[in-house]
Amino acid sequence: MGRFPLLSLGGFLLMYPALLVAAPAEDVRLFVRDATRNGHLQLPGRFWHITDLHLDASYHLADDPTKVCLSSKGAPAANAGPYGDFLCDSPYSLIQSAFNHMNHMTPQADFIIWTGDSPPHVPAFELSTDLVIQAIGNMSETIRGHFPTLPVFPALGNHDYWPQDQMPGSANAIYQAVAKLWAPWLQDEALRTLGEGGFYSQLARPGLRVICLNTILYYGPDKATANDTDPAGQFLWLQGTLERAAQNLEKVFIIAHVPVGYLPFTRDVTAIRKRHNERLVYIFRKYSHVITGHFYGHTHRDSVMVLLDEEGKPVNSIFVSPAVTPIKSVSEPYSNNPAFRMAFYDAKDFSLLDIWQYYLNLTEANERRRADWRREYVMSEAFGLEDLRPQSLLQLALSFRLPQATSFDKYFSHFMVSYDERIRCRDACKLNQVCAMLHLDDRGYSKCLRGRSLQDSNVLL
Ligand SMILES: *[C@@H]1O[C@H](CO)[C@@H](O)[C@H](O)[C@H]1NC(C)=O
Ligand SMILES: *[C@@H]1O[C@H](CO)[C@@H](O)[C@H](O)[C@H]1NC(C)=O
Ligand SMILES: *[C@@H]1O[C@H](CO)[C@@H](O)[C@H](O)[C@H]1NC(C)=O
Repeated sequence: MGRFPLLSLGGFLLMYPALLVAAPAEDVRLFVRDATRNGHLQLPGRFWHITDLHLDASYHLADDPTKVCLSSKGAPAANAGPYGDFLCDSPYSLIQSAFNHMNHMTPQADFIIWTGDSPPHVPAFELSTDLVIQAIGNMSETIRGHFPTLPVFPALGNHDYWPQDQMPGSANAIYQAVAKLWAPWLQDEALRTLGEGGFYSQLARPGLRVICLNTILYYGPDKATANDTDPAGQFLWLQGTLERAAQNLEKVFIIAHVPVGYLPFTRDVTAIRKRHNERLVYIFRKYSHVITGHFYGHTHRDSVMVLLDEEGKPVNSIFVSPAVTPIKSVSEPYSNNPAFRMAFYDAKDFSLLDIWQYYLNLTEANERRRADWRREYVMSEAFGLEDLRPQSLLQLALSFRLPQATSFDKYFSHFMVSYDERIRCRDACKLNQVCAMLHLDDRGYSKCLRGRSLQDSNVLL
């Protein structure tokens, strides 16, 4: 507070009165902070990122807790309430409450990024190609109903297929169906590649291109593409699209469901197949001057990565958004509260400035039978960062190296969307998190693990 003179606040509100008139004072303060970050008044670009909605239409309050939802797979949903249970996927009421809250917030977003996974986590025999298309259709209609005028950039998730994960590298009933369902949001060329391979690219605003990848084609459980070097020719298409974007002086946001890089909660496991991950990292490094942000889902958790080039220089900011669904399996020690986020970017160079993370305390919402979505944290403020450009994210990772760093406890609590502050991540758990945050390729990641101690400078380069 006090960093920006009142004059800039007044000037700002003169320029954008309607935008913020209904916003809480704290939001206005933060928004002005973002708008004046470069020393001059500029409205930052902003978009919603929603992911992993996983609608479970079977969810209902039942006397027998094992009958509450199919997604609990027979486990008792003992704390089931009107907004869900940590052993179940999202009831429709939870998803609607999220969209209602988003709709009532100012400043409003310019567009929505939606990184997939509409159907519930249920055995294959409970679903079919038609039911999967129905689930994607329901979520598409629901989003359009709540945000009729906002452009939406959707991506396919591994559950958006039947049987799940098995996406082929060529046209099929599901790619063709989503090319129809998403026609209100996408242009002809995007719909054409979507119908053939499940990926597309489109300008989000002048100078800013969204490239939506179908990373399920690189996902380990996908048997249909296991032996392909370039499933659906997507790598070739990606390079060509990035090359043209560079020539046209555009900047690019990469969006996809399954993220690039290593999973932060386990050791030495990439989210996609290792060899496809290496190829993707190679392309992202080569075009890091064109790409200004990456936005993924899939893990259901809140995490950050920073892509380093071969010399260890930070070149790209990468964000994995937590899920709307709160589901966990019986054996998992923790889960996530339902979540969505707004991201802010510099409207001139499209670099990332901030993330406002929102969540629903599911336990509290069920107790009170009321869904009070709240802001969980503001990333720049929570970690004392100037912005979310690659250099700042590197600084964040470096701050975790100190053994007593409370910033890491905060990061880990956010990782679970404030599910349980008492759960700590130390030693091996912390090493996994930090190595995954900083190293997306095999060479860097292995070296990071060999460093063993977080104080060892090998961890970083
Ligand atoms: C989506 O599914 C829910 C839950 O089954 C249902 O209540 C709702 O009417 C459906 N909406 C659309 C647009 O299909
Ligand atoms: C991939 O290769 C393995 C081993 O050679 C083979 O068993 C499998 O059928 C192949 N899969 C496809 C989709 O061609
Ligand atoms: C969520 O609500 C429960 C029940 O009211 C409470 O015990 C818990 O501390 C809350 N969590 C957070 C992060 O506020």
